[in-house]
Amino acid sequence: MEKQLIVLKEELKKAIDNVENINQLNETKAKYLGKKSSLQDLMKMMPRLSVEERKNVGRSLNEFKNYAEELIARKAKELHDLKVRLRLEKDKIDVTLPGKRFAVGRKHLLDQAWQELEDIFIGLGYQIAEGPEIELDLYNFEMLNTPKGHPARDMQDSFYIDGNNLLRTQTSPVQIRTLLAAKGDPVKIVCPGKVYRRDNDDATHSHQFMQLEGLVVDTDITMADLKGTLRFLMKKLFGDRLEIRFRPSFFPFTEPSVEVEVTCFKCYGNGCGLCKDSGWIEVLGAGMVHPNVLSGAGYDPKKYQGFAFGMGIERVVMLRHGIDDIRLFYGNDPRFLEQF
Ligand code: DAH
Repeated sequence: MEKQLIVLKEELKKAIDNVENINQLNETKAKYLGKKSSLQDLMKMMPRLSVEERKNVGRSLNEFKNYAEELIARKAKELHDLKVRLRLEKDKIDVTLPGKRFAVGRKHLLDQAWQELEDIFIGLGYQIAEGPEIELDLYNFEMLNTPKGHPARDMQDSFYIDGNNLLRTQTSPVQIRTLLAAKGDPVKIVCPGKVYRRDNDDATHSHQFMQLEGLVVDTDITMADLKGTLRFLMKKLFGDRLEIRFRPSFFPFTEPSVEVEVTCFKCYGNGCGLCKDSGWIEVLGAGMVHPNVLSGAGYDPKKYQGFAFGMGIERVVMLRHGIDDIRLFYGNDPRFLEQF
């Protein structure tokens, strides 16, 4: 019996040494300590032994059982530790590896310009006005001193919805809306927004583009105010070294009307391809609000004067960044958009 137990101990030790996982350990445990184990077989012999023998054998069997349980417990801990170590090794992160880059969008170049223009004018105490893109013929033309049949309408080939409504061809109708709403009070607004013309789409024309309209009406407004304001705006947009100049022009809703030009910011007046050797670049139209417009909107032109201007936002952005095709703004090609 003693010998049998010694052999059993050795066998058990070897078996446990070869165990690789918890299942195998459980199997080994069952084999050596379970109901059908050799230990149980030995225990079953006990009743047949004398009292004296039983005492000794009982002690030996107990000793074996303790030995086996200790070995198994130690192995169980070993397996557990190994499992934890392996998992930690697998989960290890290398904080020096490059991170994942999340693509953050940005504002479209035209939105950036829109925002910048608003900020400049808010800084000058202007309010931002808005108007609908589907506009009345009455506001888009008629009350802007451009009656039906006026040749100036031809220059703005238009998308009509019916006899009275069209997609606005300019932001100027917001002048009328603003004056009507102000009911005779002074007005100082800019209005950025989309306009539509039945133009051929080419590198510098689009059937839809954006303008910034400006209107100031008060009792003591002169052309010097217009010039000072536009000079400030152009210096903000194109740099401090620039000057502006007015050239006579015609718009039905202003009198006098001017084209505003800035010093060519590429050659600073020396003459180059951009300014067609003139040293100047035309950027917007402006003028003093026509008395017919003022009186039509309920303002006494003897008491009130005003200036107005209208600027193409795309045109200014194209000049600033040397962009030569207006269609790039609307194409949504990330290779273009990501540059700004
Ligand atoms: N509405 C004109 C256009 O689309 C631009 C313009 C010129 C607006 C002179 C004005 C202005 O307010 O005074 O061509």
